Amino acid sequence: MSMQTNLSLSSQRTDNLAGIIDVPGDKSMSHRSLILGSLAIGTTKVTGLLEGADVLATADAMRALGVDITRHDDGTWVIVGQGLHGLVAPETALDLGNSGTGVRLLMGVVAGQAITATFTGDASLSVRPMARITDPLQQMGTHVASRDGGLLPVTITGQSEPMAISYESPVASAQIKSAILLAGLTARGDTEVIEPHASRDHTESMLRHFGATVEQTVRDDGTHHVQLHGGAQLIAADIAVPRDPSSAAFPMVAALLTKGSDITLPSIGMNPLRTGLITTLIEMGGDISILNPRDEGGEPVADLRVRHSDLHGINIPAERAASMIDEFPILSVAATQAYGTTIMNGVAELRVKETDRIKVMADGLIAAGAIVSYDDDTMTVTGGPIAGGMTVNSQHDHRIAMSFLTLGLISNAPVSVEGCETIHTSFPDFAKIMQNAGANIAETGS
Ligand code: S3P
Repeated sequence: MSMQTNLSLSSQRTDNLAGIIDVPGDKSMSHRSLILGSLAIGTTKVTGLLEGADVLATADAMRALGVDITRHDDGTWVIVGQGLHGLVAPETALDLGNSGTGVRLLMGVVAGQAITATFTGDASLSVRPMARITDPLQQMGTHVASRDGGLLPVTITGQSEPMAISYESPVASAQIKSAILLAGLTARGDTEVIEPHASRDHTESMLRHFGATVEQTVRDDGTHHVQLHGGAQLIAADIAVPRDPSSAAFPMVAALLTKGSDITLPSIGMNPLRTGLITTLIEMGGDISILNPRDEGGEPVADLRVRHSDLHGINIPAERAASMIDEFPILSVAATQAYGTTIMNGVAELRVKETDRIKVMADGLIAAGAIVSYDDDTMTVTGGPIAGGMTVNSQHDHRIAMSFLTLGLISNAPVSVEGCETIHTSFPDFAKIMQNAGANIAETGS
C-alpha cells in the first residue's frame, strides 16, 4: 500500500456546501468483519468495507495469522474462515500501524489460540496504554510480555482454551470489552464483561450474526453486562458494512457551520450507541433530518440531510460520552460557532486516543482565537469569531487533522494542517470528497 507522507493541507472560508456526500464504511464494523470472518467456518463476503489504513492493517495481520483474504474488483472482500482454532503463529511481528482497535482486538484473538504473536505500531500507537487489555487477558491465563508500563511492543502467548472470567472494566470501552469477548470465544463456559456505561456493541451484534450466544443486560445499578457462551463454532455470514457515523461527523458539522449549506449523507450507520453527536447537534439547534430510517444487514441506517444552522451551547451529560467518543474533536469545532457555552462532560478517555485529544484540540483552537478551557474530564468552549491564520500538526491523528480542516472553513484567515496523510486511516478521500461538495481545501503551496 502506498501512502503519501508529509501531506500538508489548508482550508479557508467556504459557503454553500451542497450535494450528496458518500462517506466510507464504518471502521469499527470493518475491523470486526475481517476478524470474525477469519474465525468462522465457511466463506464470508463483506461489502462496504472501509479501505483505510487501519482496516488494511488488520487485514494484513489476519493474513499473517494464516487467513486467506482477497478483495474482488467490485469492492467485495472475501474471507475464508479458519474456524475458532485455525490460526497459525505469524512469522514476523504484527504491525497494526495507527490502529488501537486493530491491535487491541487482535490481542484478544491471539489470547484464544495456542500461538505466540508480537504486536507493534506507529509512534502514536506505541505510547497508548495496552495494560487495559493485557491485564484482563492475563486473568484468562494469557502470557504477556510488554515494554515498560504496558506499552507496545507486546508479545502475547495464548491458549487453546483460556479461562472464562467475569471482568468489571473501570471504563466504558468497546476495545476492552471486545478483546475479552474474542478471547472468550474459545474459553469453556461464560465470559462476562461489566461496563459502567454502554460502549458500542458491534462485536456483540456481529457475534450473534455468526451464530454465537451473547446476552446484554442492564442492571438496576446502571451497569451494563455482556455474557458470551464460549466454545460454540462461528458460522460464516455475509456482512454489509454501513457508512461510518464518525466520518459523517465532519461534513455534517461543516454543513451546519457554513452559510447556505445543504447536504445529504446517505446510508449512515445509526446504531444508538454511535449517535450521541447527532442527538447533541440537534439539541444545539442543528437542522439535521433523519430520512428513510431502515435496517440494512442487521444494522439501523438512515440518510441525513444537514443544513446551515444557528447553534447554541449546551451542557452534554457524561453518560452520553461513550456514544460520541470519537466525535468530540469535531464537536469542539462546532461549539466555537455556537451562541454561549458548550460543556462536554466525561471526556477523560479522549486523553488516551491517537493523541491527547483534549489538549491538542484546546491548544489549536486557542491558537485560532477560540475561548476554550479544560480539566481532566471536562472541556468547555464558548462561541465567538475564529481568526485562524495558524498552522497545526495532526500528531498522527486523523480526526485532529479533519477537525482543523473543518475549522478553516469558518475562520477569517486560512488554517494549515501538517501531517494530513494520517487522514487515510479512516477517511481516505476526505479532501477530494469535501472539495467536490464545494469546500475550499487545497494542498499547502498549491
Ligand atoms: C472503537 C472503540 C472506541 C473508539 C475507537 C473504535 C472500536 O475506543 O474510540 O475509535 O471499534 O471498538 P474505546 O473502546 O477504547 O473507547
